[in-house]
Amino acid sequence: MTDLAGRPRILLVGGGGGLLGRALLESTVPGWSVRSVHRHPVSREAELGAEWIPGDAADVRDWAPLLEGVSAIVNLAWYRWGSERKFRRLFEGLDRLVRAAQESGTPIVQVSVPPAPAHLETGIPYLTYKRRLDAIVRQSGLPYAIVRPTMMFAPGDVLLGVMLRSVRRFPVFPMFGDGAYRISPVAAADVARLILRFAKDPPNATVDVGGPAAYRYRDLTDRLYELLGKRPRYWTLSPKGGVRLAALLERLGSTLLYAYEVEWLLSDTLALPPSPSVDWTMERVEPYLRAEAERLTGRPSPELGPLRAQG
Ligand SMILES: NC(=O)c1ccc[n+]([C@@H]2O[C@H](COP(=O)([O-])OP(=O)(O)OC[C@H]3O[C@@H](n4cnc5c(N)ncnc54)[C@H](OP(=O)(O)O)[C@@H]3O)[C@@H](O)[C@H]2O)c1
Repeated sequence: MTDLAGRPRILLVGGGGGLLGRALLESTVPGWSVRSVHRHPVSREAELGAEWIPGDAADVRDWAPLLEGVSAIVNLAWYRWGSERKFRRLFEGLDRLVRAAQESGTPIVQVSVPPAPAHLETGIPYLTYKRRLDAIVRQSGLPYAIVRPTMMFAPGDVLLGVMLRSVRRFPVFPMFGDGAYRISPVAAADVARLILRFAKDPPNATVDVGGPAAYRYRDLTDRLYELLGKRPRYWTLSPKGGVRLAALLERLGSTLLYAYEVEWLLSDTLALPPSPSVDWTMERVEPYLRAEAERLTGRPSPELGPLRAQG
């Protein structure tokens, strides 16, 4: 199950171009060789000598040839939003992947999401198909890990990074309710490190992964303003108003924020602790936010020290 250089080969489903994929790709250097299935070219994969299999995971009928010489599968592929049909097709493609892995006995690391409020768990295809796939992996009899990170950060992320750009660009920033709900952002690089550890040594368990500290949402948004040298100015909405605003944006075709993401945030379930499987010092979010603010403005941001952690 190794390449010519004696490195174990990973089948990266979803590829090295997304938020977690980029971090994972860097973490595979120099220990792993990568076979990567996804739709759009990623120049960094070519630079690192990864083998790109262009294609949509939903369309792969026979995964067996792609599993030849593979030591472990890591599945990242998922959409942030889409129709029932879109999720069902991807689920079916990934279900075929698990069946093929059963034939070859290939271990699998499935990247999933942490528990959400009950009505979301059963009410949106994003989650219902995710949970069905998680269950299939869990019951496959294969060595496995299901890794469930909370909100991740890394350069180019579409959550904290977008919030920072919005704070810079707009005169006010929407605040849903009192902002006292918490999040514990986790670096994509830390999640990637854990995934590769599990690809080598699967724990046969579901592992939730939060960052090293939890913060109140409002403390984080205040920090974004401070880093940009602006005074906080919020457009305060009720929790319901926040969900309605996101639903309106969704209907208008915006990908900025989805209603389910606002509901999830408001539920105060996203402040996961770090996983006991992590035995290194995890990256905190503050230096990342500062670096991103400096990149945006092109000038130094104030040194502000750590944010107040909330448990
Ligand atoms: N972002 C977070 O904060 C977060 C938190 C918890 C869990 N997760 C989970 O972590 C995983 C990765 O998330 P991410 O934020 O890195 O996602 P992302 O940036 O959207 O990247 C997903 C990657 O999957 C590939 N992909 C999507 N649909 C595909 C398909 N049908 N066939 C083949 N490849 C496909 C895309 O590459 P191509 O366009 O080249 O196909 C894309 O680069 C997902 O399972 C997500 O649910 C994310």
